[in-house]
Amino acid sequence: MRETILVLDFGSQYTQLIARRTRELRVHSEIKPFSTPLDRIKQAKPKAIILSGGPASVWDEGSPKLAPEAFGLGIPILGICYGMQITVHQLGGKIERSQRREFGPANLRVIDKSDLLSGIPDDEVWMSHSDRVLELPPGFELIAESENSPNAAVRCLNLGIYCTQFHPEVIHTKYGKEILSNFIFKIAKCKGSWTPKSFVETKIKDIKEKVGESRVICGLSGGVDSAVAAVIISRAILDRLHCIFVDTGLLRLNEAKEVVESFRNMGLNLIHIDARDRFLRNLEGVSDPERKRKIIGREFIGVFEEKSSKINGAEFLAQGTLYPDVIESVSVKGPSATIKSHHNVGGLPEKMNLKLIEPLRELFKDEVREVGSELGVPIEILNRHPFPGPGLAIRIIGEIDEKTVSTLQHADHIFIEEIRQAGLYDDIWQAFCVFLPCRTVGVMGDERTYENVIALRAVTSLDGMTASWARIPYELLEITSVRIINEVAGVNRVVYDVSTKPPSTIEWE
Ligand code: XMP
Repeated sequence: MRETILVLDFGSQYTQLIARRTRELRVHSEIKPFSTPLDRIKQAKPKAIILSGGPASVWDEGSPKLAPEAFGLGIPILGICYGMQITVHQLGGKIERSQRREFGPANLRVIDKSDLLSGIPDDEVWMSHSDRVLELPPGFELIAESENSPNAAVRCLNLGIYCTQFHPEVIHTKYGKEILSNFIFKIAKCKGSWTPKSFVETKIKDIKEKVGESRVICGLSGGVDSAVAAVIISRAILDRLHCIFVDTGLLRLNEAKEVVESFRNMGLNLIHIDARDRFLRNLEGVSDPERKRKIIGREFIGVFEEKSSKINGAEFLAQGTLYPDVIESVSVKGPSATIKSHHNVGGLPEKMNLKLIEPLRELFKDEVREVGSELGVPIEILNRHPFPGPGLAIRIIGEIDEKTVSTLQHADHIFIEEIRQAGLYDDIWQAFCVFLPCRTVGVMGDERTYENVIALRAVTSLDGMTASWARIPYELLEITSVRIINEVAGVNRVVYDVSTKPPSTIEWE
C-alpha cells in the first residue's frame, strides 16, 4: 500500500508547502482540514500526521482543535507552530497568550540529537507566532530552545508526538528539510518510494481498470496539464484515447502546427479541428473582454461537442485538474483555483454527460512537470509559459480581425524569440505582446507614419496571483523594439508595461 502523510490544515499559509516538502522526500502527502473526523483519519492509514500552523490562538473562542483521540492512535505526529500549541494545550500543558509577535529568524540551540534533530547543528530557524509554550504537558520533554522560545522543540516519546515552534517547511529554516526528513524516515519509518516513475506505473494501472474497454476524449490546449494527462492516459489505453485539438486561430504564431506535430510524434490519436473562421466570424465587431470570453467559451464547447459526439463508445472526458484545485482546506484556495475560475471551457463536463477522468488531481504543478518528463513529453511543452483559454483575443484590445491577429502573432513571436535568445525564458512567468487599438505618429525614412502600438508584457510570479514586471535588460527591450518596428507591418511604436499585479492584472483584458 502507498505510504501517505496526512497534513492537517489549521489555516497556515505554509500548509501546501508542508505537503510539497514531504513529496520532495518522495513520500505522498494529502492535505485535509483539521476537523477531519477520527474515522476518516484512521481510514487514510497515514504513516504520520503533520499539524500545520495557523492564525488562531488556542485561547480564541472556538479555536480549531484536533479530534482528541487522534493523539492516542500511535501514529507519529509532528505539530508545527499552532500545531504545537494546540497539541500542548489539548494534552494539558500551558500556552502563554501574547500580543507580541516573534517573526523572522531565530537561533536554535539543539539539546537532544537522538531523533527529530539528529545531525542538526545549532543554526537559524524561522519563527512566526505570538503565543508560546509556557509549560509542557505530562510526558513531554525539551529537545531544543531559542532565546525567545524556550520550548522551541519538544517531544513525547510515549505518544510519538514531536512539536516545533518554528517552521521547518520554509527555506529560511536552514536545516528544515533535514528535520522533516528525520521525522518522516527515522520516526515515521517511511520508505520514500513515491517517485514520478511509481506514480506513472500506478496511474496507468488505475486508468486501465477504470476505463475498461471504453473510450476517453481529451481536449488538448498545448499547455502542460492537458498534455501530460493525455500522454499518461494514452499509455494506459493507447488509441482508445481520442485527443481533440481545436485551432481557434487565436493561438501564438505556428503553435497549432507545432502542437499537432509534437503530439502526433508522441503517438497520440489526435483530431485536429480547424475552426479559425468560426471563431473570427463570431467575434466580429465584439470589443468587450467578457463578451469575447463568453463567445469563445460557447464556440469552443460547440465545436468540441460536435466532434466528440461522433466518437462511438466514449464514456469519459479527461481533464488536467491539479491538486490545488481540489484540496479540501481551511486556508485560502491555491492559485490555480482562481486561474480556473475564468477558464472558458469550465462548462464542458456538465454539458456532455461523460464521466470525468483526472489523472493529475493529486499533483502540484511542478510534479506534473516531473511526471511529464518521466513520460518523455518534450521540454518545450513542459516549460511553456501559461496561455489563457481565450488566447490572443484578450491581448488585442477592442475588436479583432485576421489582420490584427496576424500582426500580434508576429510581434509576439519576435519578443519570445529574443527572450529565449537572452536565456531568460525560464526566469519569466509569462511574456507576451498586446495589440493596442490606437495609432500614433512616427517617422520612417522621410515619411511620416501613422500606425499601431504594441505593448510588451513580461512578468515574474510564483503562481499568477500576484506578479511583478520583469526587470529585463534594456538591450533586450531595444532589440525587440527595433525588430518589431522593422519586421512587423503596421507597427511604429513599442512600449513596455511596468505595472504590478495587483492593482493591474497580467493580461490586459
Ligand atoms: P490575470 O490577467 O487575471 O491572469 O492577472 C492570471 C493568469 O490567468 C491567465 N488568464 C486566463 N486563463 N482563461 C484562462 O484560461 C482566461 O480567461 C484567462 N484570463 C487570464 C493569465 O494568462 C495568467 O496566467
